[in-house]
Amino acid sequence: MIHRRIFWVALALMALALVVAACAPPLAQQEASSGELNLLCTPQVEWCEGMKAEFEKINPDITVNFVRMSSGESLTRLRNEKENPQFDIWWGGPIDSFIAAGREGLLEPYETASQDIILNKDLMLDPDSNWVGIYVGSLGFATNTEWLAENPGTEAPNSWDDLLADELASQLMVAHPSSSGTSYTSLCTILQIKGEEEGWDFLREYAGQVNQFTKSGSAPARFVGAGEAAVGIVFSHDIVKQIENGLPLVLSFPEEGTGYEVGGMGLIKGAKNLEAAKLWYDWALQPDTQELGPKYGAYQAPTVEGAEASMPELLKVNLIDYDFEWCGSNKKAFVDKFTNEIANADTLKE
Ligand code: G6P
Repeated sequence: MIHRRIFWVALALMALALVVAACAPPLAQQEASSGELNLLCTPQVEWCEGMKAEFEKINPDITVNFVRMSSGESLTRLRNEKENPQFDIWWGGPIDSFIAAGREGLLEPYETASQDIILNKDLMLDPDSNWVGIYVGSLGFATNTEWLAENPGTEAPNSWDDLLADELASQLMVAHPSSSGTSYTSLCTILQIKGEEEGWDFLREYAGQVNQFTKSGSAPARFVGAGEAAVGIVFSHDIVKQIENGLPLVLSFPEEGTGYEVGGMGLIKGAKNLEAAKLWYDWALQPDTQELGPKYGAYQAPTVEGAEASMPELLKVNLIDYDFEWCGSNKKAFVDKFTNEIANADTLKE
């Protein structure tokens, strides 16, 4: 009689164990729900910090470790670490560098349902799913209004050629294209508007106007705002942010057309925390997540249905039909040409 009772108790315990196992999330999800995520973060550090906090709030068992690094530096770092990647996901910075990284096998393809709501898959989703777009921003000019007042007859530039004006000699600030995706977007915009031959001639003259190249793309807005130069070439949302911070700047755009960025995101090939990286990736494509930007002073436009742009007017300017594939696949060649033939990156202002 006792044997029969032990048998039924054992059977009940086994059934209970099976039910508990069936309710537990899949092992991968369990792995993802705790541990670390090593994030390579290219946009403004305030946004990186904010996104870390927001992600950890909904994933309390995952600690996000991030490094803020400009696009060109990030690409170099991923190349150097190809055999032993230290990052799990790269978030932000123009997709030109993601296209280059994808072609070099540095990114992990990832197809996921979160991509279904991407606004324009031809523009914002790599056909091989190596990268996806997470924001959009236009390139603009930031001009110091005090400099304008002190130099009667001058006005904020409204064409690329205005940057070559005599009064702007050593009064231009832009990042170096080897470190900055912002600057590379400017370089490749000029080549597309003027053609390669005339474009490179223009770039030589434009570089001759530069007071000092910076490492990060958004820095010129701060330095021009501080009066260190008259005009900076920066993404328009970064200029608006510095105007909001009270700097004496005015935003203008080249009427003949300006370039723009699609900010990218991609999993790193060989990532050690791949499941946590996928959690971030899927989260970053949710409309609510893409609407967090303004909370951290980031006014880029979203890339998914259901998310409202905070400053849609920044994209209602004359945007060129920027060829991301051409710029991305030529990034190394164009950056090397600029660095070797026009201006090196030996002393970048930080
Ligand atoms: C700023 C902008 C971003 C852009 C990034 C590129 O953070 O807000 O929209 O993607 O610069 O950084 P980089 O330093 O590579 O130009």
